Amino acid sequence: MTMQAIVLNDFGGPGVLKLSLTARPAPGPGEILLRHTAIGVNFHDCYVRSGLYRTLALPGIPGIEAVGVIEALGEGVTGLRLGQRVGWVSGRYGGYATHRVLRAAEAIALPDAIPDAELAATLMKALTVSVLVSRAHRVTAGQTVLVHAAAGGVGQLLCSWCRHLGATVIGTVGTREKAAVAERAGAHHTILYREEDFVARVRQITGGAGVAAAYDAVGKETFRGSLDCLDFEGTLVNYGQASGPVDPLTPSDLAVRSVSLVRPIVFHYIRSDDRLAALSAQVFEAFRAGVIRPITPLTLPLADAARAHEVLEAQRSPGGVVLLP
Ligand SMILES: NC(=O)c1ccc[n+]([C@@H]2O[C@H](COP(=O)([O-])OP(=O)(O)OC[C@H]3O[C@@H](n4cnc5c(N)ncnc54)[C@H](OP(=O)(O)O)[C@@H]3O)[C@@H](O)[C@H]2O)c1
Repeated sequence: MTMQAIVLNDFGGPGVLKLSLTARPAPGPGEILLRHTAIGVNFHDCYVRSGLYRTLALPGIPGIEAVGVIEALGEGVTGLRLGQRVGWVSGRYGGYATHRVLRAAEAIALPDAIPDAELAATLMKALTVSVLVSRAHRVTAGQTVLVHAAAGGVGQLLCSWCRHLGATVIGTVGTREKAAVAERAGAHHTILYREEDFVARVRQITGGAGVAAAYDAVGKETFRGSLDCLDFEGTLVNYGQASGPVDPLTPSDLAVRSVSLVRPIVFHYIRSDDRLAALSAQVFEAFRAGVIRPITPLTLPLADAARAHEVLEAQRSPGGVVLLP
């Protein structure tokens, strides 16, 4: 039995993502075989493809989230059934393929109301945002927070969730069109950070005080400015590096206003099955209550994975890109 997959043989530009035919695995004890219906594309995949993260052994199949249907159950699997629709988010790669074998405990039961492509575009980002607002920094009513790339996939969900928690949200965006997207998602103020000095604007908006938390996944280009935007005892949550890795800093850089720096990775917060179940429940409750809305992604065929990465890296993603097998 075979399956189609994007197998990464070398690190490099999007052109290294090529579709090939490879052996279809069979589920062992405690595992299931999934036929993917929608595969989420994340910035993490770009870092893996380029070689910035060396977390996927080559040759290997990238991809950290997907939605699919159970086609086979391994020995001893209970609580799941053939034909059931489930999702997964995992650092144990294997998303960019028509099929994958998954530990049964990693399968996430999905609400019927949300279509496959929307779930595949949103699940990983929503789990991340749940961590960002409740673990990396606890957002509470009355705080002002800064969200960089507020019209991005994570950015939109973060604006919505922070606003729901009663925070005043300042979002930075690359274009005027993105400002409108960020405002629709919940940002109270937007800053065109390629045209304006975002530190000065944040100081102006907050009456000189600064923000309780700055959420920064842009990285290299914004990190220092984000530090300068913080109020006393504020928190810089650096959770990504879309513009490149952050330059080194020393502890005394944080002493200027007694601020904290956290560098969360969502996989660490779902490292056990219990944690994954608890965080997933928190996310589905947020969907149900309308705190966040699923992202409507750009969809492309699996064979066009290279184009999906180009869209993300050119900052043209509408908030999510999904591959359809
Ligand atoms: N730590 C974790 O566990 C975790 C989990 C999920 C995601 N993340 C991170 O969250 C970030 C956003 O992910 P996403 O899926 O929401 O992506 P996304 O929607 O495409 O957002 C990325 C945005 O970053 C901005 N950006 C600024 N400089 C950039 C550059 N040089 N190249 C590309 N983009 C640049 C762009 O917005 P503007 O045009 O408005 O500047 C772009 O749209 C990524 O850095 C990702 O690694 C981290």
